[in-house]
Amino acid sequence: MSGRIIVTGATGSMGAEAVEALAVQGHAVLMACRNRVKAEAVRNSILQRQPHADLEIRSLDLSSLASVRAFADSIEAGSVSALFNNAGVISKGYIITGDGFENTFSVNYFGPWLLTQLLLPKLPPDASIVNMVSLTCRFVPLAEQTLQPAKNDFSQLGTYARAKRALVSFSLELARRHPALRINLADPGIVASDMIDLGHWFDPLADALFKPLVKTPKAGVQPALRALAAAEGLHYYVGKKCRPVPRRYLDPALDARIWAETQRLIAV
Ligand SMILES: NC(=O)c1ccc[n+]([C@@H]2O[C@H](COP(=O)([O-])OP(=O)(O)OC[C@H]3O[C@@H](n4cnc5c(N)ncnc54)[C@H](OP(=O)(O)O)[C@@H]3O)[C@@H](O)[C@H]2O)c1
Repeated sequence: MSGRIIVTGATGSMGAEAVEALAVQGHAVLMACRNRVKAEAVRNSILQRQPHADLEIRSLDLSSLASVRAFADSIEAGSVSALFNNAGVISKGYIITGDGFENTFSVNYFGPWLLTQLLLPKLPPDASIVNMVSLTCRFVPLAEQTLQPAKNDFSQLGTYARAKRALVSFSLELARRHPALRINLADPGIVASDMIDLGHWFDPLADALFKPLVKTPKAGVQPALRALAAAEGLHYYVGKKCRPVPRRYLDPALDARIWAETQRLIAV
């Protein structure tokens, strides 16, 4: 790949691992982060181990559509080769962003949706795009009204799962509209990260039950790294496996409706 690989949420547990692994592979990386101080610390730490790493930092706050637009505007056409939509959040409470979206949906869905669309003209036609999803999304239905949960509908995990389900839908519709792109989904499994702090997330019994399943960030990001290097799209990377996107997610009519509703809400 020539050009930088964009990694969103590069300050996070798996994001930082992805940046370092890509640098070791010889790629130049653009770290898209909302916290510049944290990003500098991550970059410096990687540079201590990988002194030749080519790492650039730019600001991106996915809870602000203006920030997404400013980030995309700052990217020169042809300077980037791939996009890893890694950033994500599980909001503990019901927060509405300045754009009027629920925060978990904004960071996990609306922000990456707009970012990807705005970057498309700047990426190669066959660019690799990897969207980080979650096993939680298999348990939730999707509909247009899902995109804007009311306060009564909000729950930490449920809203997160629905946002990731919407990201799956977006990925499939994007692939239909741009068949040359290599769009893949990566599911890291359950990873001990800043997002999921086992000590707080689960009770002691659940902790004990889940512990054998919990991965390190380095292990959790491996499916995404394999997806980024994939020669074809529309696959679901999980663990050591890579299979076509599961049938349960295939609903082109729904994807088209979700796309149209998202366009209407974002006003693009
Ligand atoms: N951990 C798991 O078990 C698990 C399971 C399935 C899927 N995932 C997904 O894997 C991805 C990485 O998660 P992780 O476990 O590595 O979590 P993490 O350590 O909490 O990293 C999340 C990253 O997202 C960034 N972020 C949060 N809000 C943002 C915003 N408004 N704008 C831009 N960036 C923002 C964070 O930035 P700051 O450093 O500034 O906070 C951080 O860099 C996420 O998409 C997550 O949903 C995780």
